[in-house]
Amino acid sequence: MTVTRPIALPLPGSREECAALDAADPLARFRAEFTLPADTVYLDGNSLGALPVRTPELLRRTVEEEWGQGLITSWNTAGWTELPYRLGDRIARLVGAGPGEVLVCDTVSVNLFKVLTTALRLRPGRRTVLLEREAFPTDLYIADGVTRLFDGARSVQLPSADELDAHLDSGVAAVVLSHVDYRTGALLDMAEITARVHRAGALMIWDVCHSVGALPIELASCDVDFAVGCTYKYLNAGPCAPGFLYAARRHHAVAEQPLTGWFGHAEPFAFRPEYQPAPGIGKFLTSFPPLLSLTGLRASLEIWDQVDLGQVRAKSLALTGLFIQQVGEVEVVTPRQEWLRGSQVAIRHPDGYPVVQALIARGVIGDFRAPDLLRFGFTPLYLSYTEVWDAARALREVLASGEWDDERFRRRGAVT
Ligand SMILES: Cc1ncc(COP(=O)(O)O)c(C=O)c1O
Repeated sequence: MTVTRPIALPLPGSREECAALDAADPLARFRAEFTLPADTVYLDGNSLGALPVRTPELLRRTVEEEWGQGLITSWNTAGWTELPYRLGDRIARLVGAGPGEVLVCDTVSVNLFKVLTTALRLRPGRRTVLLEREAFPTDLYIADGVTRLFDGARSVQLPSADELDAHLDSGVAAVVLSHVDYRTGALLDMAEITARVHRAGALMIWDVCHSVGALPIELASCDVDFAVGCTYKYLNAGPCAPGFLYAARRHHAVAEQPLTGWFGHAEPFAFRPEYQPAPGIGKFLTSFPPLLSLTGLRASLEIWDQVDLGQVRAKSLALTGLFIQQVGEVEVVTPRQEWLRGSQVAIRHPDGYPVVQALIARGVIGDFRAPDLLRFGFTPLYLSYTEVWDAARALREVLASGEWDDERFRRRGAVT
């Protein structure tokens, strides 16, 4: 369930207290499931999750045995065709969905294109899509692209979700919001906002990229219509691993998604010239997702199948709380109230980029989002309290010493 009330958490006040919390941490055993470089505190799992130890071996077996030996027969013998559904059902537990409501396929952008177009078709006569101006840009671009396909449709970028009520009129077909803001780490109340959008007769689409694997999500009990998410951040499926989409069961019979490829056909191997959608969630499939990336997801979900999301949430809040408390005199833009934040902490600094680079040089990996935000993601499966204590201290030292103010830290790579 979306956390709507504060959770009282005793924050450690010394490195020794951090070590004591690490010793008692019920999630500590998962650290051994991940390969991480020595002397590195990885605070960027909200961007690209760490490599599970088991992934290379599963990839090797898939390549050498399923592909190398099984060749084409592996489509049937290794169950490849079922993977988008079976992996979707395993993600369903993490997002509070039922079996057959989550499908692993494509990318977040493509999945948003599919579900937003579907939503507009489900609300004929309504032609407005509402989003936040600060949404992850691909969501804005896709909404713009989708609305151009419908006569008279438009997407409206609100200054913030607080402005929803003023715009939720009878012309609104759908609202698209990020559950956790990719920049600030602010968490929205999924249940309350979805109910408000429904009262206005519109459909609700959530982007859960920054909340899946970071906190419990309850898509079905919040009555959400559609959701999209990725698997390469907190879910650790690997760089560029496929996205997933959620479509509430009540929409399956009538939903018409626009990318009608052969894998979404009721009988792809009948090779008929007419398109006939598969029943259920299968109609949202277009092509088959990249098998090797799906294998990365298969491996990481073996870990996630064992994880208690309540424990993840409690530790995540403790880690972000500890970092905020220990980071010193900086401008933290992430909400301090636990029930309003996801699993990252963002700090505003006019020289954010070189500060992050100087921290990386010290072995603390965070990232930077233009124009001025330092972002730190907290992944409870492989981070310890002690590491977070040390990372906060490193940031304090980098800022106090001014060591970031060096030409070599200002040179920008393509990805920040
Ligand atoms: C909130 C959010 N939405 C969408 C995306 C885009 O995902 P994709 O590249 O899979 O389309 C990202 C990528 O980081 C994201 O953070």
